[in-house]
Amino acid sequence: MRIIPAREGIDRILEASVIGSFSRLGPLVRRPLQSWPDIPRLDGRVVVVTGATSGLGRAGAQVLIERGAHVIAVGRNETALAELQESWGSRGEAWRYDLSSLTEAHELAQRLSARGPIDALVHNAGALALSYGQSADGVEQTLAVHLLAPYLITRAMGTPVTQMRQRIIFMTSGGMYTQPFTLDTLEASSEGYRGSVAYARVKRAQVVLCAALQRREPPTGRLFYAVHPGWAATPGVATSLPLFNRLASPLLRTALQGVDGALWLATVTPPAPGGGLWLDRVERPVHRLRSTRSDDALHDEQLLVDWLDQRLADLGF
Ligand SMILES: NC(=O)c1ccc[n+]([C@@H]2O[C@H](COP(=O)([O-])OP(=O)(O)OC[C@H]3O[C@@H](n4cnc5c(N)ncnc54)[C@H](OP(=O)(O)O)[C@@H]3O)[C@@H](O)[C@H]2O)c1
Repeated sequence: MRIIPAREGIDRILEASVIGSFSRLGPLVRRPLQSWPDIPRLDGRVVVVTGATSGLGRAGAQVLIERGAHVIAVGRNETALAELQESWGSRGEAWRYDLSSLTEAHELAQRLSARGPIDALVHNAGALALSYGQSADGVEQTLAVHLLAPYLITRAMGTPVTQMRQRIIFMTSGGMYTQPFTLDTLEASSEGYRGSVAYARVKRAQVVLCAALQRREPPTGRLFYAVHPGWAATPGVATSLPLFNRLASPLLRTALQGVDGALWLATVTPPAPGGGLWLDRVERPVHRLRSTRSDDALHDEQLLVDWLDQRLADLGF
């Protein structure tokens, strides 16, 4: 019988409690318990953060800049992008792309590929859409922003030549624990649309995609991670989940506490093993409920990649 060390045991109890893990208690207990080192110096590194104009992405991009990385911030809000560019000067770049448009996602991928080595890319842009909407390509908006665009960008960028193994991070959500992976309902329809369900299904698919991409990568190739931030106070949460935001406000993490796991995965040496789901610097199970478990995870991965390739091909990409 393996004896579980006390700090691992405490982490497991927190994780099992959900509230203890996802709330600000998670990092408050785990940081000292696990002696988290600071994010290292990143001079000479180039990191791309989508959704860097607000919330988690903005907080994370600022840390990366302060640690010496060159940051490419992607978002839509022109005022916020201009503010970032002004405060960073030549230390970073702020690029405007609407990632619900696959044409814009493709343009971003081409610009990134032409730019030279990218050490890490954080696919963070996204929102829980309360009402049904379609992108310019006629795709349901949640699917477009959280899954099709990140996949298109990742696929188009190909395997880079970088000094360290390039890291690609998907910012998923703990909400995905409530939904199984299924292609049938992956693209929400306007009929009976429920934003939180559509969002959780696509966030689940991000986790499946991350495992699929890692499995297809050569052993010394890129590293893919899905990470969830717990519950963090951001403009996105205030807009999409106003009641939760009000009731849970004393428990919510700061944006910095929420984004820490992604920053750590993007920068830690030696790198963490790829393909899995992380929270607070520890790899976590991808299922909590029996009802979401799959009989054949490998089959799901193949189905998803084939489906994404076909969907993109149908749309001309
Ligand atoms: N906060 C949480 O507790 C929590 C929990 C689980 C998962 N997440 C995930 O974490 C990520 C960041 O969320 P947040 O809470 O920080 O929300 P937020 O404050 O609303 O920030 C979202 C960011 O995504 C960008 N974005 C949204 N749609 C975009 C589009 N079509 N094209 C380009 N950029 C787009 C926004 O850019 P513009 O404003 O410039 O349009 C903004 O920078 C999301 O993927 C979210 O699902 C957050």
